[in-house]
Amino acid sequence: MKLRVAVVYGGRSGEHEVSLRSARSILAAMDRDRYDPVEYFIDPSGKWRPAPIVPEPGANPGIDVVFPVLHGTFGEDGTVQGLLELADLPYVGAGVLGSAVSMDKDMMKRVCRERGLPVVEHVVVFRRCSDPARIESQLPYPVFVKPSNLGSSVGISKARSREELVAAMDLAFQYDRKIIVERAIDGRELECSVIGNEEPAASLPCEILPSREFYDYEDKYLLDRAQFRVPAELDPAQMEEVRRLAVACYQAVECEGMARVDFFLERATGRIYINEINTIPGFTSISMFPRMWEHSGLPYPKLIDRLIELAFERHRAKRALRYAR
Ligand SMILES: Nc1ncnc2c1ncn2[C@@H]1O[C@H](COP(=O)(O)OP(=O)(O)O)[C@@H](O)[C@H]1O
Ligand SMILES: [Mg+2]
Repeated sequence: MKLRVAVVYGGRSGEHEVSLRSARSILAAMDRDRYDPVEYFIDPSGKWRPAPIVPEPGANPGIDVVFPVLHGTFGEDGTVQGLLELADLPYVGAGVLGSAVSMDKDMMKRVCRERGLPVVEHVVVFRRCSDPARIESQLPYPVFVKPSNLGSSVGISKARSREELVAAMDLAFQYDRKIIVERAIDGRELECSVIGNEEPAASLPCEILPSREFYDYEDKYLLDRAQFRVPAELDPAQMEEVRRLAVACYQAVECEGMARVDFFLERATGRIYINEINTIPGFTSISMFPRMWEHSGLPYPKLIDRLIELAFERHRAKRALRYAR
């Protein structure tokens, strides 16, 4: 009996196109002797084709397990995970809480800080308290300004002066009601993949070498000029530290299934900072998440097997719980 895997992709997010590419590569890597993929496409307006998953236990008889391949809003942020909880279906990746906390850059940093993990100093800004003087009193220029909940570098800018800060905040506020401003780090960009539920394991880290001032949308998806080193050239102690912090961050946000944790290695101090965690990382043929696992001895098809096993493992553990007296 083959497992019927619902691959949900597309979605109402700025990363719709990236999701199409991720899903295509997952579908290609899936072992057809073990799995029967069933495609669920969500168009940019949010319409499901052929039909939506129904939020009711037992109401989706054609699905054994779900693989959400939705990046960003309405997919990576706990919303689709909530639907799948209601439907009582096993699914790949983080649950509702882990997804929502990881998606929100402010929350994620607060949770990490509480565990003593190194995150870059940041200031939260809502429109009502967006006075630049308040921010300047807390952080030196240059700073990075970001919507709290988004991805793919959309709405992010670097500001070196008050004028640029005000423009950067205006831009970020177009994408979220809560934005963050943080100290700009002059450093190397590292990424490390994690998989697992109760006992998460980290891959070998990799390094991204942006071709522009920072790793912006053009550099990620359009220019094809950024360079990658897998594994990253680090000394053994730094390598171990990145992997340790990746797992610690994963556990701090209560992630399950998988995530990619991104870091800065500050040039002047050698300090390692956690930048962000992505609970549905890119899965395209050139994406770092599967490539890091390939280099760590887990080829793409086996990675998919493992992620599906983890989905069932969590579902069984939750099923064993009581929800009433
Ligand atoms: N504090 C920072 N210092 C230096 N560069 C940063 C900082 N924050 C973000 N960047 C740059 O912007 C890119 C995107 O920011 P990130 O926080 O990863 O958002 P996203 O979720 O959109 O990927 C990073 O990969 C990095 O190149
Ligand atoms: Mg990023």
